[in-house]
Amino acid sequence: MTVRLRTVVFPVAGLGTRFLPATKAVPKELLPIMDRPLIQWAADEAIAAGADTLVFVVNRNKRAINDHFDMAFELEARLESSGKTEHLRMVRETLPAHVRPVFVLQPEARGLGHAVLCARPAVASGPFGIILPDDFILNRDGPGALAQMAQVQAEHGGSVIAVEPVEWKDTSRYGIVSGTPVDSQLMKIDSIVEKPRPDVAPSNLGVVGRYVLDHRIFDLLENTKPGAGGEIQLTDAIAALLTEQDAFAYRFDGVRYDCGNKLGFVQATLRCALDDEEIGADLRRTLEGWLRAAGPEPASARKASDGVATQR
Ligand code: G1P
Repeated sequence: MTVRLRTVVFPVAGLGTRFLPATKAVPKELLPIMDRPLIQWAADEAIAAGADTLVFVVNRNKRAINDHFDMAFELEARLESSGKTEHLRMVRETLPAHVRPVFVLQPEARGLGHAVLCARPAVASGPFGIILPDDFILNRDGPGALAQMAQVQAEHGGSVIAVEPVEWKDTSRYGIVSGTPVDSQLMKIDSIVEKPRPDVAPSNLGVVGRYVLDHRIFDLLENTKPGAGGEIQLTDAIAALLTEQDAFAYRFDGVRYDCGNKLGFVQATLRCALDDEEIGADLRRTLEGWLRAAGPEPASARKASDGVATQR
């Protein structure tokens, strides 16, 4: 069965301070991984999961995101008259004709939960998706993460949240879940907590920015008080949802790059560039040359990575 997720919400009102000064005038979601802005990768993933309504939760400094998805009439006319059909196709494909963008304002930065609540008037009944574009997920050999999750939701009902093991020292950067395994990739969530310190975290399974949530989450968000960091947390509303219905943590197929920080952003760029038909082979040769010239990394600089899920 092919499953569609009609509406996907993109909370994109964040400041992007880690990339200043690049993000002084340009929204962080428009920074490109290769030749596509982060928000375009996210929109494509949503459309591939069946979405025909993309809800962007923006603020007054994010108008360029509207422009990106708007029709660029003059540009299209010029490309058309000069016969640049491939470029014309690329410009038109930013948003296929059957997909409707909706822009919703989040007037104040009051947290992820608040951003999602702002989208409520634009979200039809039934389960809906959320993508945090900073969490860039590539699944080179199969469907995107959100399409996988739509399938899981159709099979198991309830809500589905993407997770992956994070290093224990980093639990305070993520929503952390614990629960009961269903199969090798799926767990029924028993508890979820926002950004716990490593010494109190129930596990090292971190929430990454993909959610398929039951519409009921909006009622719960209405009543969610500010939590971690003084913000209205989506995680707290999901914790309330768990008392009423099932939610599942899903270990997606694919690799996630944290493009909210510089290392992840550069890794994602390199990964996509190495896969690129036009420049991949040359880039590989360049990198190999640089690494040979630099010699082996000193053992003291090597870091052990957990990469394994454990629960207390
Ligand atoms: C948000 C969520 C957090 C989740 C993370 C994934 O945090 O609140 O639960 O683990 O996204 O990227 P943020 O990164 O916005 O602080």
